[in-house]
Amino acid sequence: MTIQYSQREKSYELYRKGKREGTWDPDEFDLEQDKADWAEFSTDEQHQFLASCSAFYDGEEDVTRTLAPYMMALDTLDDEELPFDTVQEEMFLAQQLYEEAKHTDFFSRYFEEVFQTQDVEPYRAGGYQTQGYSTDDLYGTAEELLTAITGGSQQDLIYTLGEAYLNYMGIVEAQLARGGYLSFDQMIEVKADQMDRTELLPAFQAGIGKIRQDETRHIENGRWVMKQLAQAEPAIVSDVYEPRIETYIQNRLVVEPSTTEQPFAGYDQQSIGRKTKQYLQDTVDYIGIDRFDRVADIDAAIQSMASTD
Ligand SMILES: [Fe+2]
Ligand SMILES: [Fe+2]
Repeated sequence: MTIQYSQREKSYELYRKGKREGTWDPDEFDLEQDKADWAEFSTDEQHQFLASCSAFYDGEEDVTRTLAPYMMALDTLDDEELPFDTVQEEMFLAQQLYEEAKHTDFFSRYFEEVFQTQDVEPYRAGGYQTQGYSTDDLYGTAEELLTAITGGSQQDLIYTLGEAYLNYMGIVEAQLARGGYLSFDQMIEVKADQMDRTELLPAFQAGIGKIRQDETRHIENGRWVMKQLAQAEPAIVSDVYEPRIETYIQNRLVVEPSTTEQPFAGYDQQSIGRKTKQYLQDTVDYIGIDRFDRVADIDAAIQSMASTD
């Protein structure tokens, strides 16, 4: 089947945007200033910063390793039954997979040359990995997709793919990664202030800026596909999206993060939490707030789940 170039869908437009924006090379950043800046961090500050970076490095590897089945699933779906063109979406995901590989590449080089370690294990105990929801889930999601591709009905495959997009693009990218950027912003701002500097870790910031730009496209495409799937199978919202969002709220938003010793003075976890909640509301709004029942209003959902604890 040919692609109607004159009828490009959102996925194709985001792919075109990615061709223009996504051509940066992690090898081109000069890391000398970053190495000097990193030496100015105290051991506790380094530990805290490495906890966030390790979660990211792990996460980028996890998304790189688990995206391929999404393309296979799209290929197996019956295009006639869907309100979008699966080939255009596969083109977007092919580009996304390359970009995730490049994000892993960025962290790999940065860990080696600036942090001078590839061992993330000691830092996994802090930060994001303690809260009962991690990117490990992506492997289970990929397995479920492979099973649905070979053995499931069309509806089963749509449901599984919807859950996969919600988990990967809706939660790992739109929640965990975006919360991580806010955390980097704050730590760097606090440390730069303390050192009386306007700029700190310039290569890190430039690289994260590029990654962020790529992720914005991934998140936008993910929301769009979730919306398309909800149009094809309206019950997917109550059967799949809502239970998955409730699990996430229960694991990550109802339970306040344990307040561990924070080396960066003035670091504001609550403001990150507020913004993260807003991002989740944005996802619901994009898919269509009227389609939702139990988690249409994220704040209300959190409160009612917290009170029934
Ligand atoms: Fe990424
Ligand atoms: Fe991504």
